[in-house]
Amino acid sequence: MKNSGLFVAIEGVDGSGKTLQVKRVATLLKQHNHSIITTREPGGSSFGGQIREILCDPNQKLDVVSEVFLLLADRHEHYMKIISKKLKGGNIVISDRYLDSTFVYQGYAVNRDPQWIRDLLDKTQIKTPDLTIWLYLPIDDALARVEKRNSEQSLIKPCYEQVDFLTKVVKGYETLYAQNNNNSVKKIDARLPTEEVTDSIFRAIIDAWAKKNN
Ligand code: TMP
Repeated sequence: MKNSGLFVAIEGVDGSGKTLQVKRVATLLKQHNHSIITTREPGGSSFGGQIREILCDPNQKLDVVSEVFLLLADRHEHYMKIISKKLKGGNIVISDRYLDSTFVYQGYAVNRDPQWIRDLLDKTQIKTPDLTIWLYLPIDDALARVEKRNSEQSLIKPCYEQVDFLTKVVKGYETLYAQNNNNSVKKIDARLPTEEVTDSIFRAIIDAWAKKNN
């Protein structure tokens, strides 16, 4: 029987180390002979790359509803044209951010219940991941890491780095995942040594893969 793919999203506040971990765990999975595709949001499709530029342009002062429409357009293209096809091909697909980032950044972090975003999703063919890895980082650590980052390389709008906003992001993830009642979210402490974080992510993905395909 052909394996069905596994869709994994990696989530966490800015500075939680998602991007590094996606690279490390992809290398490890390849060494264990898994077919693996990595992608990211915003910007996973070629159209999404343009959306990322608009979203991250500090000169754009978009309303949050406009932001969500752009993010969902990006995600719809990304899911339909890339993710679903790779899953059908039996791959493990790992996305650096996905749906939950929108619930947190365009929902909780701007003091809005994310239900309005869920309502919009009902009209799309965007599907939820099989497994979400939550790289948990408390606010003080997140701020320290974000400060250290080279601002030239960061595509985050300056407003996203403000203490208040990032505090709401950290709390937003906690609120969102407190409601996780089907164990599809694996919380990993991002303060642990890099190798331990990679190993925990790897094991969570292997377990989820085995559950789905056995
Ligand atoms: P990144 O630096 O992790 O690639 O993400 C870029 C920024 O985009 C980050 O600050 C979070 C933000 N973002 C949202 O606000 N909503 C979303 O739905 C996604 C996917 C990202």
